[in-house]
Formats: sequence, structure tokens, C-alpha cells
Amino acid sequence: MRILLYAGKGGVGKTSVAGATGAVTARNGLRTLILSLDPAHSLSDVFDLDRPLMDKNGGLPIPVAERLWIQELDVHEEIGKHWGEVHRYLSVLLNASGLDGVLAEELAVLPGMEEVAALLYVNQYAREKTYDVIILDCAPTAESIRFISLPKTLEWYMQKVFRLERNLMRVMRPMARRISDVPLPEDDYFTSIERLFEKLQGVDHLLTDPAATSVRLVTNLEKMVLRETQRAFMFFSLHQLTIDAVVLNRVFTEADGPFARSWLQSQREYRQLAESYFHPTPCLEVPFYRCEVLGYGKLFELGQALFAGRDPAALFSVRPPLEFTRLNGSHAVRIHLPFVQKSEIDLTKVGEELIIRMGNFKRNLILPRAFVPLAPQKAELKGEHLTILFGERYE
Ligand SMILES: Nc1ncnc2c1ncn2[C@@H]1O[C@H](COP(=O)(O)OP(=O)(O)O)[C@@H](O)[C@H]1O
Ligand SMILES: [Mg+2]
Repeated sequence: MRILLYAGKGGVGKTSVAGATGAVTARNGLRTLILSLDPAHSLSDVFDLDRPLMDKNGGLPIPVAERLWIQELDVHEEIGKHWGEVHRYLSVLLNASGLDGVLAEELAVLPGMEEVAALLYVNQYAREKTYDVIILDCAPTAESIRFISLPKTLEWYMQKVFRLERNLMRVMRPMARRISDVPLPEDDYFTSIERLFEKLQGVDHLLTDPAATSVRLVTNLEKMVLRETQRAFMFFSLHQLTIDAVVLNRVFTEADGPFARSWLQSQREYRQLAESYFHPTPCLEVPFYRCEVLGYGKLFELGQALFAGRDPAALFSVRPPLEFTRLNGSHAVRIHLPFVQKSEIDLTKVGEELIIRMGNFKRNLILPRAFVPLAPQKAELKGEHLTILFGERYE
């Protein structure tokens, strides 16, 4: 089974590209599910489906074509299914803290619950081999990043905090009742979290296995959008997911006439920048369409333009382009750079950005927070990998 995760800034075309990919994989004979993780679902809209049809469906998959299903999660349904006890306890707690009942219930929907629900489905479908391809249409970048860090955070919580907390509660509950009105969680609450965690087991491995999961960053050839894409490139790499393609959407051509002339020039420049930022990850292009990309037929057309005869479910690049690690106690970044001539390496760091120059190759890299106070100290190109070691800044 393959998981294709589409992420990017709001409005760049994630949902259209996710839909287009699904249209092609389904046509290629693969059972495909497109799952929307964006709370502002628009998957049914790009397939031009009836809203009431989706609303009645309770957030389950619905067929849109042969071998093709779409699913838009319904957070309230999911809370009922998986978060019952947790939600109940939080509502009671917030209510006891003086908040109005309705508001308490609303606030007890924690950020991340919807994403956990999505992960539960992905894991379940993977275990039951329900589909050959699962396409994830993510929320705009910041939120989708939080979603990929969830399994690790949960695992840490379960290992370090959960048991302690549960045992502590067993001891404290009788005492607490005597001294305060604030209710402590009952054991059901803990059982419910434990059950949830069991269902999530393995999803982390699934997401970080390059053979299973590919991240595709959707972007436009514009300054602000590219910047955010670089950031996403760093984040997904930090979480050890493999980015195997960058999709450049809404690219103008000469055929677009005089209106596009100024766009053409700036897009040409940004295209070069994009290639150097994301090298050696392939950049795939989608043309700018004159009308809305709506309905299966249009989506399929977009998919054909995007993949140009390639199999969308294939792995476009096997090695993670970027890895953040620790080497001999130092922070290090390892960059996969095939086709780069060995030459003098020049490193400049400005804030969170590292600029690497080697001969006529130049790469701008956004660094994770932990690297910001550090300075690059040593760079070594060995085979196809450039490793840069960071250390304390001496000034
Ligand atoms: N290549 C394209 N050419 C023209 N319009 C596009 C293209 N890709 C997307 N659009 C349009 O842009 C809008 C936003 O696309 P959408 O896929 O919903 O973005 P996102 O999911 O990233 O927010 C939609 O109206 C869509 O029809
Ligand atoms: Mg969308």
C-alpha cells in the first residue's frame, strides 16, 4: 500500500492535485481513497458532489468513480467514536471550572483530535488492506505539520507520563473528592486513551517508511509560497518523512498570451530557485488552467499533465533529501546531493537560514529551531551526501 501526502500553503492547489492524483491511480487499476484532513473540507467540491450527500454520510468514504473513494472526516462523529471518555471528562472539567456547558463541550474538542482520527483511519486501512493507495489532502502547512508529529508525541506521553498519571490518579481520587469540586479523571478515561494508542501503534513507522509514504509539497512559483514550502521541506525532513516530489502548480506558458508575460518572467526565475532549494527532489509542473478545475474529467486531465505518463503511486525519489541528526554529540544536517561537483564549500548562516555554495551550486536551507543558536563548523562532501556539523557559536 502507498500513502501519498499532499501538503502546502492554503490555496496553492493541494485538493485539486490530490483529486487529480486519485483520478489517475484509480484509472490505473488501483483502489484509491482520498482522505481530507483539512477541517475546511473541499474534496467533495472539487469532485462537484452534492453537499447534502456528504453531510448525510457521517464522514465515511463515498465512491466517486470506479475504484475511487473520497472521505471527509466529521470531527463530531470521530469524537463520539474514539474520544468519548476523554471528551466527556474535559467537558466536565471545563464546566466545573465555571464555563458554560455548551462552551465547555465545544472547547473540549482539543486541537489535534481530527488529525488523530485521520491517523486511526490510515492505520486501520493499512492493517485491513482496504485500499492500494491512500491520498491525504492535508490542511494548510502549519496544521499538517502538527499532524505528522502526533504519533511521536503520543508515544512519548504514553511511555513517560501516562502510567505515572494513571497511578497517581488512583491514589489521589478519594482524597481529592474531599477537598475540591474539580473532578479528577476516572479510570475509564485512561482506558480510553490506552485503547486509542493501541489503534495508533505502527502508524509512525508507516509514515516514516519511504516505501510506504511519500510527501509531495504543492507550491506556486511565488516568493512567499516558496518560502513556506522550504519551511515545510525542513519540517517533514525533521520528522523523517520522505519528500519525493515538489508540485509546481499554476505554471504559465507562452501560449497564455500577453496577460501572462510578466508572470512568465518571474516564474522562470522562481522555477530556478525552486530547483536549487529542493534538489535532487524532482519538481513536477501543472499548467495554469483558464477555468476552475472541477469534476472528475478536469481532475483527470490535470493528473495527466502532472504525471505525464508516470505512475503517480511510484516513488519518485527514494532517499530522503534532507536529514537532521546528531553526530558525535553535535547537531548535524545531511543533504543528499547527487550530481554536484566537489569544490570549495562556502557556508553562510543568517538566523534560521543556511546558505550553501559549492562552485555554481547554491542551496538555501531553513533550519529547525534547535539549530538557530548554533553555527556551522564543518562541512564534508562524501559520495552523494553533504554533512554539515553545527556547534556553539564562538564570538
Ligand atoms: N493548475 C490550476 N489552474 C487553474 N486553477 C487552479 C489550478 N489548480 C488549482 N486551481 C484552482 O485554485 C483554487 C484553489 O485550489 P485548491 O486545490 O482548493 O487549493 P488548496 O487545497 O491548496 O487550498 C481552486 O479554485 C482551483 O480550482
Ligand atoms: Mg484544500
